[in-house]
Amino acid sequence: LSRGYHENVISHYENPRNVGSLPKGDLDVGTGLVGAPACGDVMKLQIRVDENGIISEVKFKTFGCGSAIASSSYLTERVKGLSLEDAGKVKNTEIAKELCLPPVKLHCSMLAEDAIRSAIRDYRSKRTQAADSKQTGFVDVTQNSSAGEMAHA
Ligand code: FES
Repeated sequence: LSRGYHENVISHYENPRNVGSLPKGDLDVGTGLVGAPACGDVMKLQIRVDENGIISEVKFKTFGCGSAIASSSYLTERVKGLSLEDAGKVKNTEIAKELCLPPVKLHCSMLAEDAIRSAIRDYRSKRTQAADSKQTGFVDVTQNSSAGEMAHA
């Protein structure tokens, strides 16, 4: 890292928090995998959600620049303990401000914002799919196609 980087970035870069992976197949795990078109860097962020809808665990792997690593490390600490709704509201501008990222590095914090949103989306779609497949066990959709739809309401 060159001079001029804020110490918050350096701390998260040199000592990134929550690096690693969660088992992608687990029903309570959401995986976000996003890339930055500007530079080709890639970030994977995973959340584990408890029965109350609170993020209990967060892991990331970032193949990218120091600012992207720092942004994802910061984000893991920021969203742990939050509801999915609150976690989805964390903005890249907050990350950039917290880490004092220079304007050319704003897209790195954007990657972190995209990653948490994508992880939340993945978690939600998994739960919906699981609920749907449970329902088909009870509802014969070929006999009564409206029954399945009503069950969604
Ligand atoms: Fe692309 Fe940082 S330079 S994510």
